[in-house]
Amino acid sequence: MQLSHRITHLTGGGSDGWEVFYRARQMKADGIPVTELTIGEHDIGTDPSILAAMNAAAVGGHTGYAMVPGIDTLRDTVAARVQAQSGVPTTRHNVLITPGGQSALFAAHNATCNAGDTALFIDPYYATYPGTIRGVGAVPVAVQAHADNAFQPRAADIAGVASKGAASLLVNSPNNPTGVVYSRETLEGIAEVCKTYDLWLISDEVYDTQVWEGEHISPRALPDMAERTLVVGSMSKSHAMTGSRCGWIVGPEEVIEHLINLATHTTYGVPGFIQDAADFALNAGDELEKEVAAPFERRRALARDLLANQNTVGLVPAQGAMYLMLDMRATGLSGEEFANMLLDTHKIAVMPGESFGQAAHGHIRVAMTIPDDQFLAALKTLCDMAAEISNKRAAE
Ligand SMILES: Cc1ncc(COP(=O)(O)O)c(C=O)c1O
Repeated sequence: MQLSHRITHLTGGGSDGWEVFYRARQMKADGIPVTELTIGEHDIGTDPSILAAMNAAAVGGHTGYAMVPGIDTLRDTVAARVQAQSGVPTTRHNVLITPGGQSALFAAHNATCNAGDTALFIDPYYATYPGTIRGVGAVPVAVQAHADNAFQPRAADIAGVASKGAASLLVNSPNNPTGVVYSRETLEGIAEVCKTYDLWLISDEVYDTQVWEGEHISPRALPDMAERTLVVGSMSKSHAMTGSRCGWIVGPEEVIEHLINLATHTTYGVPGFIQDAADFALNAGDELEKEVAAPFERRRALARDLLANQNTVGLVPAQGAMYLMLDMRATGLSGEEFANMLLDTHKIAVMPGESFGQAAHGHIRVAMTIPDDQFLAALKTLCDMAAEISNKRAAE
């Protein structure tokens, strides 16, 4: 009996660059206290008012099969939200509710890529991207965004690869792992490349409520892009509902119709009581979203003050999302070497930039997901260790 090539090669084989993370988790399991600044999980739970809505919906009987495309109320709410944000006319027929953004990413690539097609994505990238693309039988090809361009991807670099033939391009702004928000210029360049080379654009916007500087622009709103753009959204980050698994795809009606077929034959939708809770949360007003985002904005400000008083660790412009990307190249170490040393010496776990591709070599990603005082103390320790290494290097 043989397993499919697709499933056995999903992760691409070899090191996935997540060894530091696994090691930190093992240390914690062994009872060693580790300060974790690794994954994108809030340090608050889902708001009690959302849980109460979820409970009321479940107790009220919304526990059977829910409508596969999503319940009408939530599809309408998502459509209205996306329309208000982007100005693009959007109805429930443009919306499919999915079990989280991850499932939406998989569905979007399923809709746009045939087996063997090239699917482009930007490096540094959210760790699941290449596996998601392989999961639909397409071939993931990375286009690097460079540190010297503040990790804004260059249209010419994308065009260079797209000109060899590709079906889709996946972008993510606000970006995980860099915290960069793509500028209008970047997005307009991307849109032109998509039109020139007839690419589908899959726009992962799950951090759209976490913008600290600049503005979030959905590329679906750019001229002639609505017909070729699939937007991925999620309740996970905006409402601290990571475990509820509720997200969406917004795109052309025809694509959504096909994706409803896909959902019927794969997920069979999202539990009704979760959708009711999501609908409640999205209608609860901006305050709730701001409350969920506030700790990250606050910690980013704390980090910027701290980092301004030293000159070893560089901060990539932290414009959005719940992460800081730090440039550690002055230490002469790779991100992985620095992260391993930090874990061994100070029991602080961060993600090596190399966990997210080649472009963030010599960087580390710090998740701003622990209480302010602990976050600041960990960052100070990190900076002190970096300065020590770099001073020692200079003296050699
Ligand atoms: C960039 C990005 N996209 C998608 C996801 C998936 O989120 P979810 O499936 O919880 O909606 C994440 C989760 O961390 C992410 O960082």
